[in-house]
Amino acid sequence: MSIRNLDDLLAEGVSGRRVLVRADLNVPLDKQSGEITDDGRIRAVLPTLSALVEAGAKVVVCSHLGRPKGAPDPQFSLRPVAGRLGELLGAPVHFAEDTVGDSARSTVEGLADGQVALLENLRFNKGETSKDDAERGAFADQLAAFGDAYVDDAFGAVHRKHASVHDVPARLPHFAGRLLLREVEVLGKLTGDPERPYVVVLGGSKVSDKLAVIEALLPKVDRLLIGGGMCFTFLKAQGHEVGTSLLEEDMIETCRNLLERSGGEIMLPVDVVAADAFAPDAAHDVVPADGIPSHRLGLDIGPETVAGFAAALSQAKTIFWNGPMGVFEMAAFANGTRGVAEAITKADAFSVVGGGDSAAAVRALGLDESSFGHISTGGGASLEYLEGKTLPGIAALEN
Ligand code: 3PG
Ligand code: MG
Repeated sequence: MSIRNLDDLLAEGVSGRRVLVRADLNVPLDKQSGEITDDGRIRAVLPTLSALVEAGAKVVVCSHLGRPKGAPDPQFSLRPVAGRLGELLGAPVHFAEDTVGDSARSTVEGLADGQVALLENLRFNKGETSKDDAERGAFADQLAAFGDAYVDDAFGAVHRKHASVHDVPARLPHFAGRLLLREVEVLGKLTGDPERPYVVVLGGSKVSDKLAVIEALLPKVDRLLIGGGMCFTFLKAQGHEVGTSLLEEDMIETCRNLLERSGGEIMLPVDVVAADAFAPDAAHDVVPADGIPSHRLGLDIGPETVAGFAAALSQAKTIFWNGPMGVFEMAAFANGTRGVAEAITKADAFSVVGGGDSAAAVRALGLDESSFGHISTGGGASLEYLEGKTLPGIAALEN
């Protein structure tokens, strides 16, 4: 792979040069207080930022947060992130009130060597996500004007053909940051020649989101364990009634087909926690997977399933996990996710947790992050990588 990385840039010398860093600081915020509930993505980009600061660069960081619609929207401001980033770096982060306007210009101009600025949310600008090459390009021109070099450390966004990810690197000398490099290295092991048995655990709510990765993984894995909301469409495809559980009617046939084609690699729950309602205090019981009462919905995998999944995981040499096994945010339905996560930490295997909700679950459940081989910062990005898709952000760095 012909990607130059941060060390190549540091070797050139960056003292006094402006380095534009695309980070993925899209962190979850508490709806009420607006506080950051999981700062994992901010911490993940620190090695790159610290190295640039120490080398005396003027560091200009940009990111998206949430999905604002191409115009400023205060609930998606990166201001709280600037505060947290400053705390973690141990130095103030100069926050620009806009992305490429007057505030951004004067903030960047005012940077001394070794100082860090954060621009306001990229997605407050239509050009960032535009499907129109010219509109994206015009925005990329404005962003590129803030850097003498560009570093992409936003692994979580490399699957997006957005201006800051795909078009800026065409305009500046470009390099992969430490996080991006590590993510690609780790996921490359999984797509290459993983040590066997290779066991994948998939959860989350929708089969349709995971279909492409299931198709790509089936021929490669020794076992595919399926839990979370999406397991009910598979159970239905096996002919079981699933009550009022999450169900994607239009995916039942596809699931049946996958089950028929799989040579027994796919393992489904044998019991589930079925509740009266989607609520933390709902009445609930463990029931067999083929005995979900018609008025109840499954919100977690059951203990027998956890034991079966744990047994499969204990044999594994390589593990990839994406998606919670149940509604782990509610204590009554967190045991499945916790049980599977603990089984992964106990296995004598190289384990990778794929971004988004599963990474958040690891931290929310208070599990030791260091007992996993790698916790990816990319949910969608890691799945698309495993699918073997060309990722616009990585392709742009290769050119
Ligand atoms: C993510 O959270 O998956 C990444 O930050 C990308 O965000 P997006 O799905 O809104 O493009
Ligand atoms: Mg996403």
